[in-house]
Amino acid sequence: MIEEKKIHQAAKLLLDSKTAIALTGAGVSTESGIPDFRGEGGIWEQYKPEIYGNIKSFLTDPSKFWALAEKVAPNLFKAKPNPGHIALAELENMNILKAIITQNIDELHQKAGAVIVYEVHGNINRFVCFGCRASYTKDQVIKKLKKKKQYPPTCDMCAAPLKPSVVLFGESLPTFEIYQSQALAQKADIMLIAGSSLSVAPVCDLPAYTLRDGGKLIIVNDRPTHLDERAEIVIHDKTGIILSLIVEELKKIKTKNETNK
Ligand code: APR
Repeated sequence: MIEEKKIHQAAKLLLDSKTAIALTGAGVSTESGIPDFRGEGGIWEQYKPEIYGNIKSFLTDPSKFWALAEKVAPNLFKAKPNPGHIALAELENMNILKAIITQNIDELHQKAGAVIVYEVHGNINRFVCFGCRASYTKDQVIKKLKKKKQYPPTCDMCAAPLKPSVVLFGESLPTFEIYQSQALAQKADIMLIAGSSLSVAPVCDLPAYTLRDGGKLIIVNDRPTHLDERAEIVIHDKTGIILSLIVEELKKIKTKNETNK
C-alpha cells in the first residue's frame, strides 16, 4: 500500500526547502538492473568485500577484483536511468535539489540529466594505472581486453595493473567531493536519502551533519536503516516508485499554490 500521506508530507517539505540535497546509494540503481551490495542478493552476499573490494587484496592479487568487475561491468555499462534517477534529476532541474551526493559509480544520475552530482566513491568510466597514474577511458580498456583477454589489464607505459577509478575499502575518498558533501550536508535543511543502507563511513555520517544543524531527513529505502527513527519521514518502498510519486505530488501542490495566489 503506497503511503499517500507521507508522499504528500515529503513533497511539501521539499517544496518549502531552501537548501535540500539528495544522498543516494546502490538501491536507486537496482531497478536499472545493477545489483546493490547489502540488499536482497547483493554483491557482498556472493563476493567477500575483504577479498574482492579491498585495496590490500587488489595489490596482492588484482585478478580477484577484475573477476568481479568482469561479472558486474556488462550490467553497469548497459544500464539505463530508471524513474528514481529521473525524479531526482527533475528535482534538481526545478532548483529544489541543490546537489546529489552519490555513492554509486554508474553515472546514472548524470545520464538522467542531473548535473551537480558528487561521486564520493568514484566512477566506473575512468581507469588509472597503479604504477605511473596514467589515465584510461572505459573504451580504451575494453579495446585492450578485446585485443588481449588478460586480467588485470596492464598499463601500456609501465605494465602495472589498471584499476577503475572507484574507491575500494581501505582507500581514501576523493578529497573535494567528500569535503563539499560535508559542507552541503551541514547547510541542508532537507536531506533526501534514497537507496542506501547507510552502513559505510564516511558517507553514512553525512546525515548527522544535517541533523546537527537542525535539518530534516527523508529516507526512502526498501529496508530499515539505523537512522529511521531520526528521520522526519521514512518510506520503506521502491525508490523508482516513491521518488516519482513525490515529484508528481510536489508539482500538484506547486500548481495549487500558484492558482491560490
Ligand atoms: N528501492 C529502495 N531501496 C532499495 C532498492 C529499491 N529499488 N533496491 C535496494 N534497496 C535498498 C537495499 O535494501 C539496501 O538497504 O538499498 C540499500 C542499498 O544498500 P547497499 O547495498 O549497502 O548500498 P550502499 O548503501 O550504496 O553501499 C555503500 O558500500 O560496498 C560499498 O562502495 C560500496 O558505495 C557502496 C557503499
